[in-house]
Amino acid sequence: MRPMRIMVRTQVMVDFHTHILPQMDDGSRSVEESIQMLCMLQQQEVKWVAATPHYYAEDEAPNKFLERRKKSYENLLPAMQQYGGLLPPIRLGAEVRYFTGMSQSAEIARLTLEGTNLLLLEIPFVSWNNRMLKEIYQLQQYLHVQVVLAHIERYLPLQKRFSFWKDLEELNVLIQSNASFFIEKANRRKAFKLFDKGRIHLLGSDCHHVSVRPPNIHVALSVLQQKYGDAICNWLEEQDNI
Ligand SMILES: [Fe+2]
Repeated sequence: MRPMRIMVRTQVMVDFHTHILPQMDDGSRSVEESIQMLCMLQQQEVKWVAATPHYYAEDEAPNKFLERRKKSYENLLPAMQQYGGLLPPIRLGAEVRYFTGMSQSAEIARLTLEGTNLLLLEIPFVSWNNRMLKEIYQLQQYLHVQVVLAHIERYLPLQKRFSFWKDLEELNVLIQSNASFFIEKANRRKAFKLFDKGRIHLLGSDCHHVSVRPPNIHVALSVLQQKYGDAICNWLEEQDNI
């Protein structure tokens, strides 16, 4: 494959949630598509990318998933190397779907983001109950992981607990939102409100393909810069140092 032309720019942000590894899940379908997505992220000034393919415990054991992820990454790496280090590097992780009893499975801790103890967790689309909150608490206590709740904006309309935010604060979890939360005008006020309260810690594109659910983190960055100016740089730096 002939490398595409890319421009070199200052890289300031992280994409914390992507489905960019080829043929791992419902994201990128090929090495070529993954490279196109990485080129888009490079042009969007993304410094590094968390590859977070879906992990479903009912489908496979963690070691099988990790084997598949390793193969997928090894398939992608030679094509990335053709760009001589200009593409944003990938850190391997997973988007782990919640299941009852997961805090009792030590293997789950192997799904944290490379070089960190961060576990990106996808919670069921229901109003969260005490049992689920206890499971998250135990995940952090027993497996010594730092839970990051994926795309928080998707769950908000479903929550019935008055104490929802207080519960999350007590759990001491980190919270990730998708870029689209800031991009879609209908949600933007809510997104800013949460951001102002320090409730959004990490941003991800949750990109799946080049054209459908594409890498769009630069649009969210531009919205944030318009609202907060250069102050946003400190927030971006915190994500880079995570
Ligand atoms: Fe995702």
